[in-house]
Amino acid sequence: MDRQAKLGAAREAALKAGAMLLERHSFHIENKAAKDFVTDMDKASERMIISSLRERFPEDGFLGEETGVGEKKDGMWIIDPIDGTTNFIKNIPLYTISIAYMYRGEIEAGVVYAPALNEMFTAVKGGGAFLNGHPIHVSDVDQPIQSVAAVSFVHREPEVARKVLPQLGELVLKVNDFRRTGSAAFDLSCVACGRLEAFFEPCLHIYDIAAGVLMVREAGGRVTGWKNGPDCLISGHVMASNGLLHEFFLNSLSLE
Ligand code: IPD
Ligand code: CA
Ligand code: CA
Repeated sequence: MDRQAKLGAAREAALKAGAMLLERHSFHIENKAAKDFVTDMDKASERMIISSLRERFPEDGFLGEETGVGEKKDGMWIIDPIDGTTNFIKNIPLYTISIAYMYRGEIEAGVVYAPALNEMFTAVKGGGAFLNGHPIHVSDVDQPIQSVAAVSFVHREPEVARKVLPQLGELVLKVNDFRRTGSAAFDLSCVACGRLEAFFEPCLHIYDIAAGVLMVREAGGRVTGWKNGPDCLISGHVMASNGLLHEFFLNSLSLE
């Protein structure tokens, strides 16, 4: 399989959809579930990405947040057409388009594109990670007190939030500071390029993280599930770091 061809197609699809989102004349907002919104732009972005990729790779399958999973194939495109819909709705520029190509369960290529920031993160397995074409690497901070981590307040899962929020209260005393961006794909990309030392969030979906996970790994970082649990691509519970501080963050948080 030609990973660079998959990456090129993902990049092209993300650029097209991103240009459309930047025009965003007006949009209609629907509630999918409690605190979970979708706009017609999420749907239009996903349609545009799928049709662009399908034209180049008719043999591949698709798993998109808004359209769900179609026929299962060896090669699957995993798409979040807007990661950070609340930011998009609120006109906060921290939203991304996340596209990953997975072959027989392995992520082979990924892009995370933040159109309003003009930032395109790209990675192929074994080929490193890049921001706007320049190689990126995780940070070398190894002291928790110097670290900045992106967190989530688990705003859609009250039971989990009740367990995790008190732990965040303890953890913030041991690190420099926390950030909450509202786009998991962007958080992972920020770990990959060394802006942040870590990102952790439980209860995510594969389309939120597939491209970002590859980004962190290819930039020299580490991504796992939460303590004692399976990998984040299975559990949805993401623990990402520059590697040096991984055990520290892993041991600081628990879902039990
Ligand atoms: C959300 C974002 C957010 C995270 C949520 C996700 P969406 O994705 O990644 O940062 O906290 O859990 O669902 O709904 O904007 O695609
Ligand atoms: Ca998402
Ligand atoms: Ca989304």
